[in-house]
Amino acid sequence: MCGIVGYIGNQDAYPILIKGLKRLEYRGYDSAGVALLKDGVNVYKKRGKVADLERHIANKDVGGTIGIGHTRWATHGEPNDTNAHPHRSMDGKFVLIHNGIIENYGRLKKTLEENGYTFTSETDTEVLANLISYMYDHGATSFENAVQLALKKVIGAYGLVVLSTEEPDVLIAARKGSPLVIGIGKGEYFLASDATPIVEHTNSVIYLSDDDMAIIKKGQLTLKTIFDKTQEPVVQELDLDVGEIDKNGFDHFMLKEIFEQPRSILDTFRGRVAKDNKEIVLGGLYKVIDDLVQARRILIVGCGTSWHAGLVGEYLIEDIARIPVEVEYGSEFRYRNPVIGKEDFVIAISQSGETADTLAAIRMAKEAGATVLGICNVVGSSIPRETHAGVYTHAGPEIGVASTKAFTAQVTVLAMMAMVLGNKKGHLSTERYNELINDLTVIPSKIEKILQQNDKIKEIAKVYKDANNAIYLGRGYLFPVALEGALKLKEISYIHAEGYPAAEMKHGPIALIDENMPVIVIATKDKSYDKIVSNIQEVKARSGKVIAVVTEGDEVIRNMADHVMEVPDSCEMFSVLTTVIPLQLLSYHIALMRNCNVDQPRNLAKSVTVE
Ligand code: G6P
Repeated sequence: MCGIVGYIGNQDAYPILIKGLKRLEYRGYDSAGVALLKDGVNVYKKRGKVADLERHIANKDVGGTIGIGHTRWATHGEPNDTNAHPHRSMDGKFVLIHNGIIENYGRLKKTLEENGYTFTSETDTEVLANLISYMYDHGATSFENAVQLALKKVIGAYGLVVLSTEEPDVLIAARKGSPLVIGIGKGEYFLASDATPIVEHTNSVIYLSDDDMAIIKKGQLTLKTIFDKTQEPVVQELDLDVGEIDKNGFDHFMLKEIFEQPRSILDTFRGRVAKDNKEIVLGGLYKVIDDLVQARRILIVGCGTSWHAGLVGEYLIEDIARIPVEVEYGSEFRYRNPVIGKEDFVIAISQSGETADTLAAIRMAKEAGATVLGICNVVGSSIPRETHAGVYTHAGPEIGVASTKAFTAQVTVLAMMAMVLGNKKGHLSTERYNELINDLTVIPSKIEKILQQNDKIKEIAKVYKDANNAIYLGRGYLFPVALEGALKLKEISYIHAEGYPAAEMKHGPIALIDENMPVIVIATKDKSYDKIVSNIQEVKARSGKVIAVVTEGDEVIRNMADHVMEVPDSCEMFSVLTTVIPLQLLSYHIALMRNCNVDQPRNLAKSVTVE
């Protein structure tokens, strides 16, 4: 949430900052701003997208080789020019960009006001800029020390970068709870919330940890904590390609990412399906696998789409490995005093690896003695760094705010985990294990086939683009798909949509069905097939419009439904991976036809680093 960039070196900072902000815009896009150090500080900020900021800045002085930039997702104060970052202290000496929430900002603001400080914005960030200024004037020995003293007073989360006219050759960055990466160039440094703006400049990066603070000059970086303890920088190589963060000819990142799924799932398999498809090896779990097999129960935590993947994980692990599984929203788990102990395993699922509630949940589970595993996409992010072991999904960068390829990659990892556990526990015979491996590895080619129906799905989208509501129904493994299909539609097209287990329809949603209600039924040929056919009839009997996701060649449902979207037959356990694809495409086309911003839907952000 919120994107941060910074540059210090010998090049002009402005083009680097603007390009970086465009890369990070998926993290927040209600306003943006930059500050450039050059004989004083020039601060430019604007409500709207980075492109609006660029237009606002045209013909202004953008000189300077040190600068910071920010793209915002509002927490305190509405999105407007004043609340946009960077924020300056009242005396103009300190300029700050910040991602996170200063929880005690009200109290800090009051104290500062009592000391004569006034504020122009409603943000917590301006309070922090002034707190640094206050510390500078009241006992701090340097700019660096003022930042340390201020941060010690802060309760909450931050990833921040600050510059000062008092020491115009330095940038200070600090992190607690919100991610920050430093790219190391030749005599220059790049700062960002994630590696996407950095990769085109350098592959060498340092990920800051909580309480870390970096003091950066043109050719020199010092790492310490805000408590003044020296830290040894750990330099890592980025495994990221610039091509992966471009649209590559697609109109939107979301469409590109939907179409990438045959490849991204293969990348998730890569190196893990071994011995001619006879064995699955999850290297990231080797330390814990024997204990995991003996787990009393597994708790899965996640948010949004990752929580939906967790539900699929519950079905897979209980079905294949016979280990009890519970699935929790990170936000509920962390505040509800759950019973958890050292016999438990917790699996945190997160595309970004930074979601605040998921992160807090795993910290709590660790404190309670549980073993915590991560299933994450972003390498080097906080969750993989804080978990005992885990599996990366390797789906490549996901930029579209609505998650698509990360979901199928998460489900793929969960399927592989379930199979490994099932095999080790003796619930899967070798023959069945091998059969399932084969069934899973042919999924990418089945998805290729589904993607060929894109034009047909576009035609269906035309019919329903003006709907106000939609219901998604599925049973068994396909119930989480119904939830995910409904989430995709509402988040990018703003049509109200609900996912339900099909049989629950009779306990409420059926009252909503009339000739205006599209009901999307995921109805492939599995053990619930006859029952879901009955559900379709119940919808039709009430004049509802049925759009069914069916197994190729299913004439029975074709004759009942208003529209069908076909998927190749596949093993029931893995049908999540095929049936979700037409639903992603349907949402995409409906949103586009409603002129919605598909990649940056209103009010949302890709990485939710505040609770
Ligand atoms: C946000 C995103 C969703 C995502 C959720 C969890 O709401 O818009 O697409 O599913 O966060 O994010 P995570 O990175 O933890 O998977």
